[in-house]
Amino acid sequence: MCAHKSSVPDNITEEYYQISLAILDSFPKYRPPLDLFVFKEDVCQLQTYSRKGQRLTNEQVEEINNLCQTGDLFVSRSDHPVYSKHICKQLDLVLVDANLKEAEIADIFFQALPARLEEFFDQPVQAVYERLDADIMVLTEYLNEDQHRIKALMRRLKTAHTLPNHSMNTAVVGLWLLFRTRKELRRRDLDRTAQGLFLHDLGMSKVPQFIRDKTVPLTKEDREKVVAHSLTGARIMGKLGIKHDEIMQCILEHHERLDGSGYPRKTADQQISSIGQLAAAADSFCAMITDRPYAKAMEPAEAGRELVKAERLYNRKYTMLLAQAFVTGTF
Ligand SMILES: [Fe+2]
Ligand SMILES: [Fe+2]
Repeated sequence: MCAHKSSVPDNITEEYYQISLAILDSFPKYRPPLDLFVFKEDVCQLQTYSRKGQRLTNEQVEEINNLCQTGDLFVSRSDHPVYSKHICKQLDLVLVDANLKEAEIADIFFQALPARLEEFFDQPVQAVYERLDADIMVLTEYLNEDQHRIKALMRRLKTAHTLPNHSMNTAVVGLWLLFRTRKELRRRDLDRTAQGLFLHDLGMSKVPQFIRDKTVPLTKEDREKVVAHSLTGARIMGKLGIKHDEIMQCILEHHERLDGSGYPRKTADQQISSIGQLAAAADSFCAMITDRPYAKAMEPAEAGRELVKAERLYNRKYTMLLAQAFVTGTF
C-alpha cells in the first residue's frame, strides 16, 4: 500500500518522469505529443491516461491539469526523444523541470544549442542571434547555479565534425577551463565568455564549404580565406552591435599563439588576453578530437598530451588541466 504520492516508488521514477505544470503547459493542449500516465495511489501503480496525439476533451484537459498539480501525472522515459525535442524548442524549461536528470539535461543542451548555432551561422542577423543568445543564457544560468553540472556536458563532447558541433564542444571545454581557473566568476563574465566561445568560429560560416572540406593542402588563396575568418566573425558581431571584450577576444585571438606564430595579428605572450589563450587551448583541443577532412580524430587524452608538449604555443595552465582530466577521466 502506498502511503502518499510523495512516496512514488523508485522503480516508477526510474522509468517515468513526473511532469511539471510548466512542461505540460508547453504541450499542445488538446493533443499532447506523447503518452500520459496517471499514478493510482490505491494500487500504487501507473496507468495509461492517454496515448500520443490522442484528442482530449475539455474535461480531460482540466483533469490532467489537476493531476499534474498534485504530482500524479507522468510521462515515460522511453519517450525521452520526444520529450527532449520538445524542450529543445523551449529550452528554459530545463530550469524549471526538477524531474530531469543531469545527464538528460546535458543531452538536451547538446541537441538544442548546435541547432540554434546552425540557424545563426546560416543567417547571422539580429533576430536569429537573439534566439541563440536566449538559449546560451539558459546554459549559463544552469551552470551558474552549480558549476559541477559542466561535468555531464564534458562527457558528451560530439565526435562528428561540423561547425555547430565544434562550436558547442569548444564552449563546453572552454567553460570547464574557466570554472577551473577562475575562483570568483561574475555572471556577466561567464555570459560573455560563453557567447565568445560559442561564436569563436562564426567567420568560418562565410568560408565556402568546399574549402572547409578539402582533404588536400589548401592553396594560398584558400588559406587566405580561412585565415580571414577571425576578422570576418568580429565584423559580423560588430554589425550586430555586440563588441564585448570577451566575445571579441575569443573570436579574434583563438588562432593567436604564444610564440607569435598565429593569426591574424601575430600577437604573442601577454599581448594575447587570458580569455584568448583559454579559447585557443579549447579550440585546438576540440578540433583534434574530431575527424576532420584532413586529419583523423585523436583520443582526448592524446590530444591533451600533444597540447601540453606544444608549450611554446599554448598556455600550460589550460593544456595541463585538459590532459590531466582526460588522462584520468575525472572532470
Ligand atoms: Fe577558428
Ligand atoms: Fe574553432
